[in-house]
Amino acid sequence: MQSYVTIIPMNKKLIVGNWKMNPVTLDEAKKIARKIKRASDSLVSVETVICPPFPFIVSCTSKNESKFFHMGAQSVSVEVDRGPFTGEVSATMLKEIGVKYVIIGHSEQRARGESDSIVSKKVKAVLDAGLSPIICVGEASRDEAGAYLDTLKNQIKQSLADIPAKFSSDIVLAYEPIWAIGAQEAMKNEDIYESSLFVKKVFSDLFGPDAGVKVKVLYGGSVNYRNAPDIIAIGKVDGLLVGRESVNAPGFVELLKAVDLLK
Ligand code: PGA
Repeated sequence: MQSYVTIIPMNKKLIVGNWKMNPVTLDEAKKIARKIKRASDSLVSVETVICPPFPFIVSCTSKNESKFFHMGAQSVSVEVDRGPFTGEVSATMLKEIGVKYVIIGHSEQRARGESDSIVSKKVKAVLDAGLSPIICVGEASRDEAGAYLDTLKNQIKQSLADIPAKFSSDIVLAYEPIWAIGAQEAMKNEDIYESSLFVKKVFSDLFGPDAGVKVKVLYGGSVNYRNAPDIIAIGKVDGLLVGRESVNAPGFVELLKAVDLLK
């Protein structure tokens, strides 16, 4: 008898679109989301996440549920649930509208005062609500002596301070060297490989070797449909955090398809 069981690769690449404060109209946001969702439905080895601005999340959510297309948010409150916190959005509220992932500690948020200690509180809030944090880390500059590795290590350790080990499999790390964000070119693939290994090593120091092997480490910083396949193949990362190219629907769709073709 013929089997109809679909074989889904275990090592799906996680591709996250960080829309930042784009686009301006709801109509445009819905169009971009629709195109990305449609393309992602035909992929076999990619899980797609889009992170629109808060007011657009619900309208960008597809009515047709999909196991490998999810909504994400770009930030969250340190407060898990509710209360007198004007302007804040809680992880519980995000869960209520179907969000699965939350970007935390993006350098653009850190530049506006989000410290490692705030990051770790947000990570805790997100995990307590049953969502997955995508924790951004990355050095502002590199030096010959390798002091940037200490910076990176401290950032990871402090951002994950007080996080119980039982949550380790729900955490995603995004390595984004700040100087490569919004730049002309991404970091060199070989350097991405080295850094992603380092990030996994620090994670395994915190949560054990098994967690270090399993954790998904993404790369972010000037990723587009042309460089994405090599970043994954040579940089050996588990996925990508994409800014500008993620609100350019044709480019992002190309990117998803190119990554899907990788073995
Ligand atoms: P970029 O942004 O792809 O536009 O460089 C990446 C990010 O900020 O996550």
